Amino acid sequence: MSEPFLIGDAMTGGYGKGPDILHECTIAVDKGQIAVIVGPNGAGKSTAMKAVFGMLNVRSGAVRLGGEDITNLSPQARVGKGMAFVPQTHNIFTGMTVEENLEMGAFLRRDDISHTMEQVYDLFPILKDKRYQMAGELSGGQRQQVAVGRALMTRPQVLMLDEPTAGVSPIVMDELFDRIIEVARTGISILMVEQNARQALEIADKGYVLVQGRNRFTDTGQVLLNDPEVRKSFLGG
Ligand SMILES: Nc1ncnc2c1ncn2[C@@H]1O[C@H](COP(=O)(O)OP(=O)(O)OP(=O)(O)O)[C@@H](O)[C@H]1O
Ligand SMILES: [Mg+2]
Repeated sequence: MSEPFLIGDAMTGGYGKGPDILHECTIAVDKGQIAVIVGPNGAGKSTAMKAVFGMLNVRSGAVRLGGEDITNLSPQARVGKGMAFVPQTHNIFTGMTVEENLEMGAFLRRDDISHTMEQVYDLFPILKDKRYQMAGELSGGQRQQVAVGRALMTRPQVLMLDEPTAGVSPIVMDELFDRIIEVARTGISILMVEQNARQALEIADKGYVLVQGRNRFTDTGQVLLNDPEVRKSFLGG
């Protein structure tokens, strides 16, 4: 049995010299699949994402990508290995145009980026219309599209999204989820944190419920949605 394409395996760690926030926390995603992390505020969801991306010292445990141990690689080196991360906040350059944001996403590439940019514009047509507009002037949903588009400019194998639908309307959320499914169908693995737990688990191949930095429930999205305890405690009944 081979292990998932990307795995943060039994990660324990915290910020600086502070206490551990994660306690043997395991998060994984397979090729072309969607894995969703849910849980209450402060559960350590963002911290788990940062740990997988190399922004946190993992005191024990490991991160492996395609079987390779990348635990000691910097975030930039992980981008070089095919990982892209859209953080929960400050995920676009508001003082730059939409197109400049996309160009910034490709800063590590030395090849022609125009084809990838067209793919991003095909995925999010509104960004093409607004490509010369300042990203800071866009709506919340459009900004999130810029953030996802910028991440896609690196042509990642894994796309990590921390609350991509934060602050957007239900309709915009549905549209964003549809686009995320489209991205996954191209073979890119999606690892995302979501506050809209029910809707996110609907599209999840795998779901992780974190509580106080620990794995509380792990199963397919469908099983979690149908689990009475998960429903009662984490999905509002
Ligand atoms: N930069 C930081 N330095 C120190 N402690 C932090 C830092 N960021 C988060 N924490 C702490 O880590 C714990 C988990 O926070 P985290 O942001 O990972 O939770 P979360 O599950 O993403 O919450 P939310 O749903 O509100 O986004 C919290 O107790 C928080 O105070
Ligand atoms: Mg968070």
